[in-house]
Amino acid sequence: MAISSNSTNGCDAAVIPEDRNCQWRVAARPKGNVVLEDFAWVEEPIPRPRDGEVLLQTLYLGLAPVMRMYMLGTGTAGEKPLEIGDVIHGRGTARVMESRHPDYQVGDMVQGQMGWQTYKVSAMTEQEKFFKCPGFSLPYALCAGVLGMTGLSAWAGFIDCGKPRSGETVVISGAAGGVGSLVVQMAKIRGCRVIGIAGGDEKCAFIRDLGCEASIDYKADNVAQKLAELCPQGIDLYFDNVGGEILSTCLEQLAMYGRVVLCGSISEYTRAEPFGLTNYTRLRRVNGSMQGFFVYNHLHQWDEAMTEIATMIHDQGLRPVQDMVDGFENMPEALARLYDGSNVGVQCCRVRGEPQGEALTTDIGGQP
Ligand SMILES: NC(=O)c1ccc[n+]([C@@H]2O[C@H](COP(=O)([O-])OP(=O)(O)OC[C@H]3O[C@@H](n4cnc5c(N)ncnc54)[C@H](OP(=O)(O)O)[C@@H]3O)[C@@H](O)[C@H]2O)c1
Repeated sequence: MAISSNSTNGCDAAVIPEDRNCQWRVAARPKGNVVLEDFAWVEEPIPRPRDGEVLLQTLYLGLAPVMRMYMLGTGTAGEKPLEIGDVIHGRGTARVMESRHPDYQVGDMVQGQMGWQTYKVSAMTEQEKFFKCPGFSLPYALCAGVLGMTGLSAWAGFIDCGKPRSGETVVISGAAGGVGSLVVQMAKIRGCRVIGIAGGDEKCAFIRDLGCEASIDYKADNVAQKLAELCPQGIDLYFDNVGGEILSTCLEQLAMYGRVVLCGSISEYTRAEPFGLTNYTRLRRVNGSMQGFFVYNHLHQWDEAMTEIATMIHDQGLRPVQDMVDGFENMPEALARLYDGSNVGVQCCRVRGEPQGEALTTDIGGQP
């Protein structure tokens, strides 16, 4: 989906204006993947903070599949259900421009619920889940992804729930995506044998480069057959980002005491009817287990997770992979990329970029 400068939604800014607050709001409930007509571009005066509030300027926004669900107004994902006309929820990295809040100073860098907008006034409530950016001598861009909620999702799902052990055979679907590209590398660092599942030759080559011993192209290969060849002793731990047929196939090949971590089910999000899993009884035969998790239930582990991910980047060769779309005007296109499989790593949007004079050069390129 290309968003051109003469878009009918009124967004014609190649560079966002600094004297207004630009926003993307819900125009229609998406059917299938999002299309430009589902979004409305709105410009408002920059809001002014009152006592107890700060004015934030957006530098980066992260994109996640759940944002399409926000737009549907289903209210299943820990945020306020959106009405038509509401600013779309989205977490990002921001700088404090004005502060009338005792805990924040002008110039502080934070990450949290910004919404799809270029400025925000906030009382920094618990619901918005703001954290001060720790820095770690890494680019602030990472706080919109690898050192943000995507990183916490990978860490909480894989390390805390999955409890990987060295030598185990781990299978990861959505392996070239935001969470997946992190879990592949965490599994490798933890000494596991890693098999990744992704769509297409290029992504498969990319995940092998990240640390997968072997890859399965679910769009071209017979997944069940390839898994049987690659995991003759069965799967010890399956990290599920996609649900549907791939989850069903992996369940069939679980080893004794095999575990499944349910992170996401993107293959089901745009289906009219949900996929009906019928073979879960396989868990009984192998004394297996299947555990879901929701990242917002792991916020108490934020510091531990961020510190461990930063250490993995600095000392253990973890490559932070973020797929950066340039320009706030391209947010709708950035969201569509998650559902058409264009993204590699965490899909993000550079709204303004690094604060002046503070740019760091860690490679966060997402293109294979
Ligand atoms: N439990 C939680 O708290 C939590 C937190 C964060 C994310 N999640 C979930 O975790 C999963 C990964 O999230 P993410 O943010 O890292 O997104 P992501 O993996 O980067 O999502 C986009 C990727 O999903 C794959 N995909 C799209 N449609 C698909 C389909 N029909 N079948 C199979 N794969 C498909 C595509 O990769 P290919 O080209 O390889 O198909 C695409 O590049 C999502 O399901 C998300 O909802 C859950």
